[in-house]
Amino acid sequence: MASVFVTRQTPGKALELLQQAGHETRVWPGELPPPPDDLARELREADAALTMVTDRIDEDMLIATPGLRIIANMAVGYDNVSPEIAAKHGVWLTNTPGVLAETTADFSWSIMLSAARNVALSDRDTRNGGWKTWSPTGFLGVDIYRATLGIIGLGEIGEAVARRARGFDMRILYASRTRKPALEERLGVEWASMEDLLAQSDFVSLHVPLNDQTRHLMGSRKFAMMKPGAILVNTARGQVVDQDALVHALKNGTIGGAALDVTDPEPLPVEHPLFSFPQVVITPHIASASLATRSRMADMAAENIIAALAGREPPNPVNRPEAPRAGH
Ligand code: NAP
Ligand code: GLV
Repeated sequence: MASVFVTRQTPGKALELLQQAGHETRVWPGELPPPPDDLARELREADAALTMVTDRIDEDMLIATPGLRIIANMAVGYDNVSPEIAAKHGVWLTNTPGVLAETTADFSWSIMLSAARNVALSDRDTRNGGWKTWSPTGFLGVDIYRATLGIIGLGEIGEAVARRARGFDMRILYASRTRKPALEERLGVEWASMEDLLAQSDFVSLHVPLNDQTRHLMGSRKFAMMKPGAILVNTARGQVVDQDALVHALKNGTIGGAALDVTDPEPLPVEHPLFSFPQVVITPHIASASLATRSRMADMAAENIIAALAGREPPNPVNRPEAPRAGH
């Protein structure tokens, strides 16, 4: 019987699937992630780990866990574990593509609309008794309809965001690692240099993974290139943005606002200057958080574990172990 450590309680039937496959499961009972020492201790006993984006697993931890055969992240992003280092130590790393793009795109749109049209801000004001009358000048926002959207990183989520933009009759620019003629044809998206995209977009939405090439992709130089009044949307990762530069750009009025589902760090301390801007919407990394999607993500992570523990290639690998470990 293999032992699977699950770092948080999950929706869906992941535990059932693992148990039906004959594995013993141990679920971290806390609402907060296991602290690094507890995570390291739990992993030492485990053949597999079902992990979250909040669980950082470094090389020392991998060396100290010779029985661990797979880390199955319940996320599409995997910047919490290095795929190369895991492979070097014989450990599979898997993620959950193909099931969360639509839900995450819905949410990117919801915070973009909220920032553009003061939804969260006016809700807070209304709850605080601020609604005195209909006002011709209150909460004036900017139009999304027929505006220009710039998508940075046209992958699964970027594409789903672009599809929705067509309903708003937007012009859609994109900058990505690879040009995508088929999508240009099908969705009418226009390939643009980063400079042109930033100069022309009323909304800039980030959908790249976090890695050494994308860390602080948006910094002071890029903010200075943005169209005055433009709104930055980030549902990718907090560290894709140089947050001090963002604060500076908001303070100086270089950009008009920001809609952030991800920050650096997470959670963002309540005294952080970003919370002082009325034109900033901040949500707690919940873009994929519908019950159906989070359930499917957890199930997929379990399916990856079941395959790896049976000696098969898991369905969603993001690395290939040089010599897969044999387990305890
Ligand atoms: P994906 O399908 O892999 O798409 C990522 C896209 O970014 C790809 O099109 C990729 O390259 C492009 N890209 C990579 N590096 C780039 C670079 N240096 N410059 C420009 N473009 C680059 O991933 P996804 O499923 O859309 O997810 C994207 C990210 O969103 C995830 O990695 C995760 O961090 C984040 N996410 C957050 C939430 C949340 O709850 N907030 C939920 C899900 C995902 P090509 O152009 O070559 O295709
Ligand atoms: C969530 O942030 C994910 O990467 O799925």
